[in-house]
Amino acid sequence: MSTTEARRIIIFDTTLRDGEQSPGCSMNLDEKLEVAQALVDLGVDVIEAGFPIASPGDFESVRRISHTVRGATICGLARCNEKDIDRAGEALKGAPDTRIHVFLATSAIHREFKLRMGMDEIVERAIAGVKRARNLCDNIEFSPEDAARTEPDFLCRVVEAAIAAGATTVNIPDTVGYATPAHYGGVIRNLRERVPNIDKAVISVHCHNDLGLAVANSLSAIEAGAGQVECTINGLGERAGNCSLEEVVMALRTRHDYYQASTRINTPRLVPTSRLVSGITGMVVQRNKAIVGRNAFAHEAGIHQDGMLKERSTYEIMRPEDVGFTKTDLVLGKHSGRAALADRATALGYHLTPEHLDSVFEAFKKLADKKKEIYDGDIAALIEQRNAEV
Ligand code: KIV
Ligand code: ZN
Repeated sequence: MSTTEARRIIIFDTTLRDGEQSPGCSMNLDEKLEVAQALVDLGVDVIEAGFPIASPGDFESVRRISHTVRGATICGLARCNEKDIDRAGEALKGAPDTRIHVFLATSAIHREFKLRMGMDEIVERAIAGVKRARNLCDNIEFSPEDAARTEPDFLCRVVEAAIAAGATTVNIPDTVGYATPAHYGGVIRNLRERVPNIDKAVISVHCHNDLGLAVANSLSAIEAGAGQVECTINGLGERAGNCSLEEVVMALRTRHDYYQASTRINTPRLVPTSRLVSGITGMVVQRNKAIVGRNAFAHEAGIHQDGMLKERSTYEIMRPEDVGFTKTDLVLGKHSGRAALADRATALGYHLTPEHLDSVFEAFKKLADKKKEIYDGDIAALIEQRNAEV
């Protein structure tokens, strides 16, 4: 790569696997196929289509996606045992470009209370699992689950062993959303410095949002050298969710000056994809959600609206069209000023003299104290009423 060429970050979407693990978010087969196709249109590199051993329905959806969806690597999740791995291999058979994602917990808490396994046994199991998967597929991702809470020396040992066994991507999950940006970036830096064969694999990051830090942690990891981000549409996922795809992608794009990294995402597809997933899962996108929320490009305050009408970059760091909205929304409410009212009146086809504008503005402010939002119909009514009076 030349020094001027931006680093390309691989976008691994897990909406259909970790996202679907959100309570109340399960999708049927047709819905999964629709989302998978939308993810291809969005330009994601890898689609984690499901966890084939989890249920016959999950197996079938990974199998159908593998047979029909083209344009991205199709991935299936497996615990680190032969049955899971073979089932994932079986489900992925129809796709030309596949990945098996094998995971095994490594933190002391998980070793002691969940797995009841010692460190040596974990390393042996990881090696055996990666080798088994490697017999079925060349593209293998290994995840030491709860990596962010794993002892650094042990994490280095497991990652080195997994790469030596054939893992082509090593994913470092912050399974419980415990990490903070400086800590998580340090975990990635430590691996890069201390694992001798680390350059033979792509380092991936997988952050949960329990402290609201999933995107910040992912960005910190990218800064520290991670090459793949695992994320979901609308940040769906277990508990408080996963790293939100739209946020991490737009952060990289908007702050390209800082990260010098790009993705293959077709960003105008972000809002349509967000709406599709929200409609299918029933998980409403909060109005002030970054990038895809209804307020993300809406301005109500008079000073902001005036600035926006003069030059949009005064109060917007991205263009609404770049994420799939048609335009900036200058919402008229009690905080709005004359400039925005005049602009809306013109857009509605009215030409107001300064005196006319003054009296309509006065009536508008009175109405705005009674209503949360003033719509075009309200403005037209105020103007018509004023016309009738003079
Ligand atoms: O959060 C997690 O650790 C996971 C693994 C399966 C990668 O989702
Ligand atoms: Zn997860």
